[in-house]
Amino acid sequence: MATRHPLLLLSLLLVGGCFQQDKAGTSQILPPDYQASYVQVRSCRPADGHGSNSIVVFANAQAQSDYLSDIGPLPQGSVVVAKESAQADCSDLAGYTLMFKEAPGYNPTAGDWHWQRLDDQRDVLEDGRVQSCISCHTQCNRDDYTCSPP
Ligand code: HEC
Repeated sequence: MATRHPLLLLSLLLVGGCFQQDKAGTSQILPPDYQASYVQVRSCRPADGHGSNSIVVFANAQAQSDYLSDIGPLPQGSVVVAKESAQADCSDLAGYTLMFKEAPGYNPTAGDWHWQRLDDQRDVLEDGRVQSCISCHTQCNRDDYTCSPP
């Protein structure tokens, strides 16, 4: 036991250290009080492609009118966020997925959208030009890579 303890301690320290470095931090895109300034643009519904989650969609001021009228592309600065729930009635908070319209040139082959998947504390789990988001949203593309029908 005497020889095993230092090794065990070392491996715990290593695992702990890696975990902290991997943590990307809180989203700089979705404000904590988003519900106060964003408008709900889609009611609770199951989201095919987001596992078995249901979503409610909110949009910021820049995104609202184009998102609601289906006239794309959405302007730079647009944020469209899906509040993710495991419950079909959207009563819980499982996390968020969002798309943020960057300046032209950020990712011109995919609408210059910046994608994020967040946990329920708004900590970033996936960030940037996320290929899995892009490839599916290219398929369902209703308007400028958004997918939720009215
Ligand atoms: C396998 C397909 C698929 C994948 C992968 C996927 N989505 Fe979606 N997403 C959808 C569909 C379909 C909807 C629309 C659901 C509905 O409202 O009926 C949607 C809706 C959304 C919405 C609501 C706004 C809108 O109208 O599109 C956001 C925001 C979103 N997804 C972000 C993301 C992000 C971020 C990722 C990657 C982490 C991602 N999605 C991965 C299929 C997918």
